[in-house]
Amino acid sequence: MLKVGIAGIGFMGWIHWLAYQKVPGVMVAAICETDEKRLSGDWTDIQGNFGPPGEKVDLSGIATYHDLADMVNDDSLDLIDICLPPSFHLMAIEAAANAGKQVFCEKPLALNLHDCDLANQACQRAGVALQVGHVLPFFPEYEFARQEIASGKHGALLGGHFKRVISDPTWLKDFYDPLKVGGPLIDLHIHDAHLIRLLFGMPRQVSSTGRTRNSVVSYCNTIFGFDDPKICVSSMSGVIDQQGRPFTHGFEIHLERATMHFEFAGFSDTGESMPLKILTADGEVIRPTLDNTDPLQGFISEISEATQSVKTGHPSEILAGELARDAIEICQAQSESVLSGKTIEL
Ligand SMILES: NC(=O)c1ccc[n+]([C@@H]2O[C@H](COP(=O)([O-])OP(=O)(O)OC[C@H]3O[C@@H](n4cnc5c(N)ncnc54)[C@H](O)[C@@H]3O)[C@@H](O)[C@H]2O)c1
Repeated sequence: MLKVGIAGIGFMGWIHWLAYQKVPGVMVAAICETDEKRLSGDWTDIQGNFGPPGEKVDLSGIATYHDLADMVNDDSLDLIDICLPPSFHLMAIEAAANAGKQVFCEKPLALNLHDCDLANQACQRAGVALQVGHVLPFFPEYEFARQEIASGKHGALLGGHFKRVISDPTWLKDFYDPLKVGGPLIDLHIHDAHLIRLLFGMPRQVSSTGRTRNSVVSYCNTIFGFDDPKICVSSMSGVIDQQGRPFTHGFEIHLERATMHFEFAGFSDTGESMPLKILTADGEVIRPTLDNTDPLQGFISEISEATQSVKTGHPSEILAGELARDAIEICQAQSESVLSGKTIEL
């Protein structure tokens, strides 16, 4: 049985907790939280933008720690799962690695490239794996698209457009703070930056136009350039000032003999989807049936992959710390491109 300690029981700590209950051979054996109410198992004030609201949880048999330094030195634990705010990620990764624990950290790996490199180096030095919770490739529509691409049956990948736009999250006071959350690119677009890196490799250049708030990019459109000039990739990402559609994401992915299309939007009154479709070169419209499109399913798949990797010692390509670092490099280049008005080489 793989034993996990979760650091931070907020929205993500709760979602990870729920996901662990569905993964065989793994148990949450400890939690670490500075909030006394949450440390006692009262998680009723947790409410995110998906998944069920928090509940009162019976923590008997589970070690509870106020200080991360104590949890990482718990000899019974194999893996530390970091669900802390991003500004704490580097500190927590270093503490876990130095204590010899395997590390699984929520996205973003860190708030800047320098800290990402320090995090990867700390784990390499300690001889432990660093995995980063980039869940998007495990969301059912995205997972299906990845598998269709990998099958090769539609020919080579030619490009795509990736969209992730939200309304202004006025309830998140640190959202635009570069030292705490990092703004829409680092917090939100990072999902697509990571996916683009995963599907197409590292872009050679980015060219972005956008708007800023106190020198932090709030919205941008980007063209990504690759060594192969036939690869055409773009994204639209960030915050726009309307409150009627809190969240939308989706993609159009182009292959030699097919196009895949998907979009979901959460409106203030309901959620609406343009379900995943494959449009083939000969005019067919294929509508695949996906078993379970609940976002929680993505976290179950992600945590299965992370824990399986720890058990077997086979690294996960998707969750690799180096890929999470590249995603930050891409976001930083996009930000630089918006602020300078120039194309940025990577
Ligand atoms: N993958 C996704 O879709 C997704 C969605 C939301 C958030 N996230 C990421 O998850 C991470 C956490 O975000 P969240 O929304 O759960 O935050 P949150 O603020 O809801 O929860 C953070 C928790 O950490 C606790 N905490 C803070 N400092 C601590 C410390 N030093 N020791 C112990 N506990 C401490 C807080 O009391 C709080 O309960 C962030 O990196 C965020 O980007 C990912």
